[in-house]
Amino acid sequence: MRFDILTLFPEMFAGVFDATIIGRAREMGHVEIVLRNIRDYAPGKHHVTDDTPYGGGGGMIMKPEPIFNAVEAILGIEIPPDGYRSLLQQGYPPIILLTPQGRLLKQAVARELAVHERLLLLCGRYEGVDERVCQFLVTDELSIGDYVLSGGEIAAMVLVDVLTRLIPGVLGDPEATANDSHSAGLLEYPHYTRPANYRGQTVPDILLSGHHAKLTEWRRQQSLARTLARRPDLLAEAELSEVDRKYLATLQDSSEDEVTP
Ligand code: ADE
Repeated sequence: MRFDILTLFPEMFAGVFDATIIGRAREMGHVEIVLRNIRDYAPGKHHVTDDTPYGGGGGMIMKPEPIFNAVEAILGIEIPPDGYRSLLQQGYPPIILLTPQGRLLKQAVARELAVHERLLLLCGRYEGVDERVCQFLVTDELSIGDYVLSGGEIAAMVLVDVLTRLIPGVLGDPEATANDSHSAGLLEYPHYTRPANYRGQTVPDILLSGHHAKLTEWRRQQSLARTLARRPDLLAEAELSEVDRKYLATLQDSSEDEVTP
């Protein structure tokens, strides 16, 4: 998968993309990341990328020309007068604006985006980007949560990380993602490692029993209990079996909860 990241602050990405899973995925050729400084595409001697908003109101707005120029240069195209969207249908990559106004990035959204071979990520800054960029260039707007960051760069890092993990071959164990929190619409069960007794706190017996069927059942129940306690909103969309539903009903019925969420 290839990411072209359009940003005013390419230096922010050093480190994050060099280490651990993303670093290895790049070395192995699973992921290619190209950082594009929007300033390089700004016309004029001073390469101005922002300006004050029409109508006043304070703050600065990212100008459209550098961003349109950048996309045209990167893709070697001319944006048609009716906008970039028509090119999307011809196989050109989605252009995603990272903004707190976008749809919320969830695991399901990541899975939907993971089918693309290439994505252009546009990192918004200041008060935002000129609306014509949103209307005629951007094909999708994503937010990573209901809070305001100083810009889209950190959100772009999050998106690259989430998508890289979904590329087959990037994670050693394919089951690792299958069991991740959110993958099946539930939070993940608790994990323990050695020692079995740490400062008097012991690991649940079931984990030491070697009884695989019971362990699988315990993990599922822990997942369900944890999701019910911490993120009950997820249960509405989770894939639940009849057994799951019965277990959840027993949890909801019992006032004394035996499972530690
Ligand atoms: N830019 C500023 N805040 C953001 C958010 N929550 N998600 C994505 N991009 C952003």
